[in-house]
Amino acid sequence: MSTRRFEPSGPLRGSYEPPADKSISHRAALFGAMSDEPVTVTNYLDSVDTRSTLEAVLRLGAGVEEVGDGNVLIRGVGLHAPLETTGGRLDVGNSGTLLRLLPGWLAGQPGGEWVLDGDESIRRRPVDRIVTPLTQMGADIDAREGRFTPLTVRGGELHGTTYEMPVASAQVKSCVLIAGMLADGSTTIVEHRPSRDHTERILARSRVPFERDGQRITVAQVDELELDSIAVPGDPSSAAFMAAAACLVADSRVVIENVGLNWTRAGFFQIAQRMGAVILGDLEAPGAFVAEEPVGELDVACSPLVGTEVGANEVPAAIDELTLIALLGAFAEGETVVRGAGELRHKESDRIAAVVDGLSALGAGIESTEDGFVVRGDGSPLRGGQIDARGDHRIAMLGAVAGLASREGVEVIGMESAAISYPDFEADLSALLG
Ligand code: S3P
Repeated sequence: MSTRRFEPSGPLRGSYEPPADKSISHRAALFGAMSDEPVTVTNYLDSVDTRSTLEAVLRLGAGVEEVGDGNVLIRGVGLHAPLETTGGRLDVGNSGTLLRLLPGWLAGQPGGEWVLDGDESIRRRPVDRIVTPLTQMGADIDAREGRFTPLTVRGGELHGTTYEMPVASAQVKSCVLIAGMLADGSTTIVEHRPSRDHTERILARSRVPFERDGQRITVAQVDELELDSIAVPGDPSSAAFMAAAACLVADSRVVIENVGLNWTRAGFFQIAQRMGAVILGDLEAPGAFVAEEPVGELDVACSPLVGTEVGANEVPAAIDELTLIALLGAFAEGETVVRGAGELRHKESDRIAAVVDGLSALGAGIESTEDGFVVRGDGSPLRGGQIDARGDHRIAMLGAVAGLASREGVEVIGMESAAISYPDFEADLSALLG
């Protein structure tokens, strides 16, 4: 395990391009593998998580070629093609997205059988959320204790269904939509709060018949995907760490280039703006839907912050950045409250516990609630200290940002986990620190 110290720093300055979007990269590899024609993915994320997805599609018979400068060519096996490897064990590593999306495809492959499993953290993450709808569609799928990996998927004939999601989850939605392309008739997923819509945008690009009607998304059975390329924008979730650092470290000004501006991912930037952060840029208008992912620039500068309240409606669009809202809250004047975020307990770590314990140890006044946290700040910087990443990439990077903005610096235990989504995190940070 690697321990790194992040000392109080001078301002972050300059322009910066975040790594490719992790969510879209996973989907690009899977949709490429489900296509008959080769699909070029430009700017595929090179990280531990997204390598797990490339390895999984390779195991399933797809071809993967690096075609230079971060681009990969996926030679798929087709949506209905008999998969070449059955009886296989598929290692999803640390990736919850791969674990939840891939079974949607495998469940509709008659004659196939696969076992999905992953690392220690994956083994604690629930899969009943996909077992329930897939079983409703006729899938033959078993999970340990009905809830965890190893997850055995035996492919078969699926039938369309309507499934109302109990919690907003883009992973569950995507799994059901993928299975829906293989199921008889049509499949409808109902989501009460909009979660990230990258799968729907790729379906639109792939000319799969689907409809969005308020909270209902319906997909019909198809024979093949018509997809030739996917361009992956920069990851707003990764960029949020640099944005948070620029918000907190005095005199900082950072221009984030080529970053995804999809409104279903923009929650952090909007909440931070409400707290007084200076973040300028053309975030996509809420409710917009175009097949191409919107991409652009964000200009972030340090300014004083005030506390805010974040309710359940805002949670899905900021789900991976809510811990950063806690960090901003610790430096802000007044109270910051996040509610309706119980899903944070099921991420790479229990992120409510990780952020509350972590930021308390650095001197923050923060308490957990059942489905969120309350942070009380007085507008002054955190003291600093030591934080344990708990094997969670986002907690490791949060610790680093906290250190730069703190009075005494922060030691992060387990910094190596940043490589799950952002292998160049420390290098990019150093570049902005000059
Ligand atoms: C993701 C969806 C979210 C998010 C995760 C990636 C995706 O999870 O937290 O990091 O790529 O669909 P849920 O769908 O479980 O909310």
